[in-house]
Amino acid sequence: MIVHRPRRNRKSAAVRALVRETRLSPDDFVLPLFIHEEAADAEIPSMPDVRRLGPDGLLREVDGALAEGIRAVVLFPKVPEERKTNDGREALRDDGLVQRSVAALKARFPELAVVTDVALDPYSSAGQDGIVDEDGNVLNDETVEVLAAQAVSHARAGADVVSPSDMMDGRVAAIRAALDEAGFSQVSILSYTAKYASAFYGPFRDALDSAPRGGDKKTYQMDPANAREALREVALDEAEGADMIMVKPAGPYLDVIRAVRRATALPVAAYQVSGEYAALCAAARNGWLDERACALESLVAIRRAGADVILTYFARKAACWLRDPLA
Ligand code: PBG
Repeated sequence: MIVHRPRRNRKSAAVRALVRETRLSPDDFVLPLFIHEEAADAEIPSMPDVRRLGPDGLLREVDGALAEGIRAVVLFPKVPEERKTNDGREALRDDGLVQRSVAALKARFPELAVVTDVALDPYSSAGQDGIVDEDGNVLNDETVEVLAAQAVSHARAGADVVSPSDMMDGRVAAIRAALDEAGFSQVSILSYTAKYASAFYGPFRDALDSAPRGGDKKTYQMDPANAREALREVALDEAEGADMIMVKPAGPYLDVIRAVRRATALPVAAYQVSGEYAALCAAARNGWLDERACALESLVAIRRAGADVILTYFARKAACWLRDPLA
C-alpha cells in the first residue's frame, strides 16, 4: 500500500498553483536597454527582438515596458569609435548619451527606476573596464577614481541606481563616498559583486562593439571555477555599502546565487546575460526548443536559486506571458 502520494499535490492546475513555492512577477525584472547616438533603432543580429535604440525608440520601448508592468530598466550605451580613449573620459560628460537618456526618461516617466551601468568598457579604446597601462595591465585605483566620477555624473542626470559592473577592488566604497559628498545619499548602488569572466557576454559585446581588443578580462572578472570567492566579494561589497548585490551570469551560476543568498540579507540580483538569451532564442528559432516555456523555466529557476531581482532581455516577453492565465 502506497501511503505517500506526492502526485496528489500535482493533480490539477489549481492545486499546483496552491503549492507553488516560487513565483515570477514583472516586479522582479529589470529590462536592459541598448542605446546609441543614431536617430533610428538598429537590429542586433545575435539578439533576436532586441534593438539598439535612438532617443525616440528609447521612449517608445519604455512606454511599452511600463504598460506591461516592467518598472525598472538599465542602460548600456554604444559609443562611436572616435570618442573612445584609454581613460574613457567620454563617460564623464554630463551631456553624454547615458546622461541625456537618463534625464529624458526621468522627465517623461518619473515613476520608472532607472539603473545605469558604471564601467569604462563602452568608452575604452582597449575594450577594457578600466584604464590600461603600457604593459596592458588594467589599473585598479586610477580606474576607481574615474568610476566614482562617472557614478556622480549619472546621479546628476537623475539615475535612481548606479550599478558598477567593472569588478575593480574598492569601487563600491569610493562610489558611495563620492555620491554622498555630492549630495546623492539617496542614490542606490547595485553592485556586480560576483561577476565572472564568462564567454556568455559575446552578443552584448557585439551589440556595443565593446569586446576587449586583444586580451581578456580575467585579471578582474572572477574565474568561473570559483564559488567560495564570491562570498569574499559579498562581504566586501556589504562592508563598502552596496544596497543590492548581483551574480552574473545567472543560469550557469545557480549554485553561486544560492550561496550568495545564504550569505547576505541584502537583496540579490542575477543577470541572465546576452549569451543565455541568444542561446535560447537560437534554439527556439530552429524549432528545437519552445521559447516561452524554456524562458519562463530559466527565469523561475533563477528565482528558485535565491535571486530577488532578475536582469533579463526576456523581461517584456515574460511579463506578457505571465499575464496569460494558462501560464
Ligand atoms: C561591461 C558589461 C558586460 C555586460 C554587462 N556589463 C560585458 C563585459 O563585462 O564584457 C554583459 C551583459 C550581457 O552579456 O548581457 N561592464
